[in-house]
Amino acid sequence: MKKIVIDPVTRIEGHLRAEVEIDENHVVREAYVSGQLFRGIETILQNRDPRDSGLLAGRICGVCTNSHFRAAITAVEDAYGIDVVKNARIIRDLISLSLFIQDHVVHFYHLHLLDYADVTKALEADPKQTSKIGHKYSHRPYANSHEHYASVKEKLQKFVKAGRLGLFANGYWGHRAYRLSPEENLLLLSHYLEALKFQTNISQAIAIFGGKTPHPQTIVVGGITSVRDMLNPQRLNDYIFIMKEAKAFIDRAYLPDMRLLVDKYREEIEKGAGRGNGNFLSVGGYRFDKAHRLFEEGVIFGEDLDHIQPFDARKITENVERAWYEGEEIRYTDLNPDGTLKTAGDKEKYSWIKAPRYDGKAMECGPLARLLVTYHQGNGLIKPFVDEFLQATGLKMEDLHTTIGRNAARAIETAYIAEYLFRFVNTLVENIKYYDTTTWRPYTFEALPAAAKGNAFLEVPRGVLSHFVQIEERKIGKYQVIAPTTWNASPKDGSGQRGPYEEALVGIRLQDPQKPLEVLRVLHAFDPCIACAVHVIDPKGKELGRFKIHQCCSL
Ligand code: MG
Ligand code: NI
Repeated sequence: MKKIVIDPVTRIEGHLRAEVEIDENHVVREAYVSGQLFRGIETILQNRDPRDSGLLAGRICGVCTNSHFRAAITAVEDAYGIDVVKNARIIRDLISLSLFIQDHVVHFYHLHLLDYADVTKALEADPKQTSKIGHKYSHRPYANSHEHYASVKEKLQKFVKAGRLGLFANGYWGHRAYRLSPEENLLLLSHYLEALKFQTNISQAIAIFGGKTPHPQTIVVGGITSVRDMLNPQRLNDYIFIMKEAKAFIDRAYLPDMRLLVDKYREEIEKGAGRGNGNFLSVGGYRFDKAHRLFEEGVIFGEDLDHIQPFDARKITENVERAWYEGEEIRYTDLNPDGTLKTAGDKEKYSWIKAPRYDGKAMECGPLARLLVTYHQGNGLIKPFVDEFLQATGLKMEDLHTTIGRNAARAIETAYIAEYLFRFVNTLVENIKYYDTTTWRPYTFEALPAAAKGNAFLEVPRGVLSHFVQIEERKIGKYQVIAPTTWNASPKDGSGQRGPYEEALVGIRLQDPQKPLEVLRVLHAFDPCIACAVHVIDPKGKELGRFKIHQCCSL
């Protein structure tokens, strides 16, 4: 058995370390995934005014700012029993859903694509042939002229001639696991550059209702403050315009590119590379009218799609036997006495990420979990999106439960959201038209209970986010967060059960142990956000206690 350590894993948010043990055939037999940076934002929240929870919790992460902002305010609203007005819910959903789209596109192109596309190979591409490939995967391929491809190729050549690859430096270029032709590489890389503009545009869309991004600031307990923006038709139009352009890019570049990847990496799918333990969690949400919501709620165990269980928050526990927490204090224990870094072993603690479990099981959350649960709970909205993709690629449902499949699920979800986003805008406009312009539910802080307890369970781009707040003497007492990456990047628990990243790594085969590209593929496909994942646990209890489930996204 040989051990490979990747530290840090780049093109993710935060500090992640991965250790894999490979056998003589270079097959991964054991994996240890570790969050390397202690955070402790919960401590900062203590003794603060509950109404400020959102602005403070938003700082948990520089990427998922809005997700934490919203979840924190929602948890406080739940504690006080404050019902959010309809318009404010829609505005919050519009901000969240735009963030899904931005995160997913940025993830695919800027964080993950270079695990599949070789920049150096694109230099050999024929721009005319590239244009032909564009037509193979889309009826109306995005920016598909050969002049465009020629200019992208020239840009890449300039990088190389100058002796630097710039933002493309340090890849495993030339690795045998890269499967694309020069033209396919050029096609995808041209979209990589287009997507840089895309992420700026979506930031502008989010800022219309969020005030700014990252760290939007327009959500308050009981409602939102971007009243003038909501009531200004020009602002609404600006939002719609940006999102329509985004939809065009998703339908004509992102989704076709995903089909291309499936085509070229089909062998990876057939081998089941990246398959985990088959446990999936979704809390659902994003309702745009009485009958329709984007995501369903449910729990899948062991890939059993026919018997989806209802989600029950009381079944969540947190385990820290293999995480760097002990007794009453937090102790950093990853250094040897001589100051060198310990590598993870059989029994040792090895991560700042705790191990949440549902009914004792490690669970995967995120786009794939949402897709499987939503589809198999009979949601008619998502069905054509999934069916169409499977039909176009010749994949089966179980093929999605792989590394490539996780990416496919994310792409399908993006196209699905970009389609239905406009229904949320319609509902908003309908409300305003019928003179419901309320954006905030008034309350008197002093009249609210001095002590209360609340929570929020929210689907966000990377999966299930939950915030738990306990208010004592009108101040925040205890605060606790379980982020999507806490579930997915969790370490082993006391019984030795691996976390989802680890389970997905076990079984893959590396072509070259010196260049563990395949490990990066598995990890990146989950879209790790490690700043989000690391959270202090209440040292007294591993059980989260009993919480009423609050569907923060329903109208
Ligand atoms: Mg596996
Ligand atoms: Ni994050």
